[in-house]
Amino acid sequence: MHICILGATGLVGQETFALCRRAFPSADYTLLASRGREAEIAGEPRRVEAASILDGPDAPRGDLAFVALDDEHSKRYVPRLLELGYRVVDKSNTYRMDPNVVLGVAGVNDDLVTDDVRLVANPNCTTIPVTLALGPLDAAFGLGGFAAATYQAISGAGQATLDAFLAGSGEAYEAPSLLDEGLDPKGYVANVVPHNGKTDASGFSSEERKLMFESRKILRRPELATSAQCCRVPVAVGHYVQLWATFARPVDPGVAGDVLAKAPFVRFVEGPEGDGLSPLAAVRDRDRALVGRLRHDPRDPSGRTLCLTVVADNLRLGAATNAVRLASRWAPSSDPDLAVFGAP
Ligand SMILES: NC(=O)c1ccc[n+]([C@@H]2O[C@H](COP(=O)([O-])OP(=O)(O)OC[C@H]3O[C@@H](n4cnc5c(N)ncnc54)[C@H](OP(=O)(O)O)[C@@H]3O)[C@@H](O)[C@H]2O)c1
Repeated sequence: MHICILGATGLVGQETFALCRRAFPSADYTLLASRGREAEIAGEPRRVEAASILDGPDAPRGDLAFVALDDEHSKRYVPRLLELGYRVVDKSNTYRMDPNVVLGVAGVNDDLVTDDVRLVANPNCTTIPVTLALGPLDAAFGLGGFAAATYQAISGAGQATLDAFLAGSGEAYEAPSLLDEGLDPKGYVANVVPHNGKTDASGFSSEERKLMFESRKILRRPELATSAQCCRVPVAVGHYVQLWATFARPVDPGVAGDVLAKAPFVRFVEGPEGDGLSPLAAVRDRDRALVGRLRHDPRDPSGRTLCLTVVADNLRLGAATNAVRLASRWAPSSDPDLAVFGAP
């Protein structure tokens, strides 16, 4: 099997390469980025080629392609990869809401990734863990809607932003001060800021709209009432989400916990305290959504609304792991943790 990874030098591309080595150990690889060079990819010295080689007549053909590029470059290269015979998992926003493209979450709707499907879109990094938690609860109790508040890590913005954040944090904490007068009030270092890119006339940012609209498509509930407020917090990796979910009937938190304890790719954390529900816990359990703090919302005396918390590694479960698990529908994975059929 020949696998092509576009954006192989980036945060998500490197994680994807590392997971592919486990899932498809006998595959060979074409690794592509903005320009050709020798580079260390997930700890391995590898040759990287310029993605523009795909435009030429000698472009490498192959079986499976993972695209971890921004929207503009996905738009440029995905059609070419399909033309070259690859099955493609694209991690950008480009194809997610296209009604002709499957938006897949392994363990929730991966049944849609059938043999005749050639392109699958990988959802946003908060949508994946949120739907892993809400999907099984929806099946058990009938989800009517949800509101979300997200606290998202800086690595969600890519390698360059993460590097600047880590360097800036090192400098800031070398000379700590109570009010951090020297730091940028709009910056990420030692701060919490709205995730407000591409806010449209609705008043919601593109990140908020992704969580609201993608969840409806994945859960196959176009009418689902959804609302989201997203911000960035000064954390390197790991997104934290607070949810208020309303169901068709009253839900006992204990029974909901039993459902989540059996849910695919979820680690249910018992107890309302949520001990161990944190981004740092998520990066020690990179391929599962940590879900807990289940309790009734006191605003809803009918008992139909639950409060819960979901945390996940945005680079792995929120991106690379889901992509490789979806691809295991087309090509069997040697690693049961990276196969949809390995789900409990
Ligand atoms: N980070 C996350 O948590 C996350 C989660 C889910 C989805 N995503 C999505 O995944 C995609 C990649 O994100 P990322 O965080 O991995 O970004 P990143 O760390 O900034 O990496 C970007 C990659 O794109 C390559 N690239 C840049 N310009 C290019 C060009 N002109 N031609 C070909 N390749 C080019 C870069 O190669 P060079 O090294 O040569 O510049 C690099 O490999 C984005 O669509 C993002 O929205 C990210």
